[in-house]
Amino acid sequence: MGKKLRVPFGTISIPEQSKRLIGEILDTKRISSGKYVRMFENRFAELSGVKEAVALSSGTDADTLALAVLHDYGARRGDEVIVPALSFVATGNAVLHAGFSPVFVDIERDTLNLDPSQIESAITEKTRAILAVHLMGKPADMDAIRSIARRHELYVIEDAAEAHGALYKGKPVGGLGDMGAFSLYHAHTITTGEGGIVTTNNEEYAEILRSLRSHGRACKCKVCTINIASNYCSKRFQGDDGEDIRFVFERIGYSCKMNELEAALGLGNIEIYHDILGKRRRNLLYVLERFKKFSPFLATIREEPDTQIGPHAIPIIVQEEASFSREDLANYLEEHGIETRTIFASMPTQCAGFACLGYELGQFPNAEYIGERGVHIGVHQDLGLEEMEYLMETIEEYLECYQK
Ligand SMILES: Cc1ncc(COP(=O)(O)O)c(C=O)c1O
Repeated sequence: MGKKLRVPFGTISIPEQSKRLIGEILDTKRISSGKYVRMFENRFAELSGVKEAVALSSGTDADTLALAVLHDYGARRGDEVIVPALSFVATGNAVLHAGFSPVFVDIERDTLNLDPSQIESAITEKTRAILAVHLMGKPADMDAIRSIARRHELYVIEDAAEAHGALYKGKPVGGLGDMGAFSLYHAHTITTGEGGIVTTNNEEYAEILRSLRSHGRACKCKVCTINIASNYCSKRFQGDDGEDIRFVFERIGYSCKMNELEAALGLGNIEIYHDILGKRRRNLLYVLERFKKFSPFLATIREEPDTQIGPHAIPIIVQEEASFSREDLANYLEEHGIETRTIFASMPTQCAGFACLGYELGQFPNAEYIGERGVHIGVHQDLGLEEMEYLMETIEEYLECYQK
């Protein structure tokens, strides 16, 4: 093999447009959520093919607030939400943050997503929603999930944190259920540095989300005029008996607004979105097409004919047939400049934080399998085919040396 390359996990693109907007915003001395956040929301909604998007501080907030909306529709604290056992821990945390109990369902080893055949046996009288994750950008089986949800009158929320640019039967994820929750964290395709956004076709949900992100306020505006140049709100004293609606709190709220500087980063990213997405897809497909040669020792996901994977990362699962561990492989890759991240864990049985829920190791065999054996590697826009080829060669070399 030739020279050693660096293959970092994530990157952030900061186009000139973002730098210019950030300068302009700083000059106004108003950086709390205002017109740029609204602009970003509109652009994100357009990209996702939905009517509304509500920008927040993180993807975890996006999951949490999407679930918290359900309290306006009769859900009670302690009701249950179905969640895949394997996901980034934020998915499970969000259910608890929203006041619900997570009920975990195992995943399929080959898709890494919820196993629809196991959902119905987890549904009880208290179930209110299914939180379907499109892990590693691969769309979950939404037809099956939506049909179960319809039968049992459940809400469907997509955790699309890792699935920017993913298509399911030609439609963008994030608009396939009642609400979609995206992360805009640094390593994601569209990023605001830190951030999250909920997408929905339901304008009433969007209104509730805007209230929830700002402490549960009674205000209903899409953009707060107090925070833009006028500094004046003509609607303020329109509450009952002339009350100040900014200080009427209609629901248990959160404090997780996006700020204008973050929105400026996001607007710049959207400007070059197709370029970013194209490069990431090129990298991902290059590796997925060549990955079969590592069978039966290593596995990854595949793209189904009617879906498009959102290019977040390349998952690699060290299979039972391998004579080495996930840690051995990850160390070797790291030594060769290739950054790796583990593919999370079975939240209920491999995450210490969830031990209080009383699940036992062995209850989620597929999630635990991936939790012990999975890593993922970046495919971001600052990597080219040279780095992807280097990754393939490094893995090949590892297998030649260490697979007994
Ligand atoms: C599947 C999933 N859900 C939720 C989140 C939470 O997003 P954030 O880190 O922006 O809070 C992440 C993080 O990337 C994630 O991977």
